Amino acid sequence: MSETPLNRAEQRALRKITRLLGVDLAHTARAVILAIGGVKGGIGKSTTALFLAYCWALLGIKVLVIDADPKSGTSRKWNRRAKSEGRGGLPFTVKTHVSEDLEDAILDEGWDQEFDLIIIDTGGDNDRILRAAYRIADRMILTASPSPVDIDTLPDTAETTVGELGERDIPVSILITSAKSDRMVKDAKKELRAVGLSVLTSVVKHRLPYQQMYGWPIESGLDYVAVQHELDNPKENSA
Ligand SMILES: Nc1ncnc2c1ncn2[C@@H]1O[C@H](COP(=O)(O)OP(=O)(O)OP(=O)(O)O)[C@@H](O)[C@H]1O
Ligand SMILES: [Mg+2]
Repeated sequence: MSETPLNRAEQRALRKITRLLGVDLAHTARAVILAIGGVKGGIGKSTTALFLAYCWALLGIKVLVIDADPKSGTSRKWNRRAKSEGRGGLPFTVKTHVSEDLEDAILDEGWDQEFDLIIIDTGGDNDRILRAAYRIADRMILTASPSPVDIDTLPDTAETTVGELGERDIPVSILITSAKSDRMVKDAKKELRAVGLSVLTSVVKHRLPYQQMYGWPIESGLDYVAVQHELDNPKENSA
């Protein structure tokens, strides 16, 4: 007699995973989807996607990172390098899908059933991909640098980005990355919150290991451990 394979919900129950990104998994049998975007290049989108994937993978969550970035392809390249020369590979899966038919790809390939969590690295340069990711996401993060010149333009661009994305009511939060000065972070948070944007309390500092670990299996989640914790427990930090 052949055994019936466990469905996603049953597998999660077995691993005692009940909540993810504030989503009660009892109400969803599919993967939870986190979209990572931004309004500029080189502001830590891919680093955020990969380090967060690492943090969740360490908790036993089955994570897929979709590299949907038409330009840099950093997640794809990092994954390829991490698998080379006996480096051991990343503790999560990375697949490339650079097209706005993200939802079809996820459903057709069965990724929504195979994984607990899907993180989409949208790249950010392509509005259509950002929008496609937003349409299917349970939660979205926009990464931003705390530099005053960037913060000055961010409220407009973030509002346009989020505004243009449409009517969906999902949490969109700004994550400040590559922070070098506490003062600058404080000012940036104040300015962004003053225009009604939601900013995560946890901040990713500027640290060389984020650069040095490129192409390696990732050894530590560093500041992203706190980010992951905040995202999983949204009520604790609703500032
Ligand atoms: N917190 C950090 N501290 C130091 N360096 C960082 C940090 N986060 C990212 N970097 C570095 O900044 C550069 C850009 O980061 P990353 O590739 O994650 O940005 P991105 O927004 O995905 O860029 P792109 O628009 O090219 O896709 C990389 O060299 C990366 O190693
Ligand atoms: Mg990138």
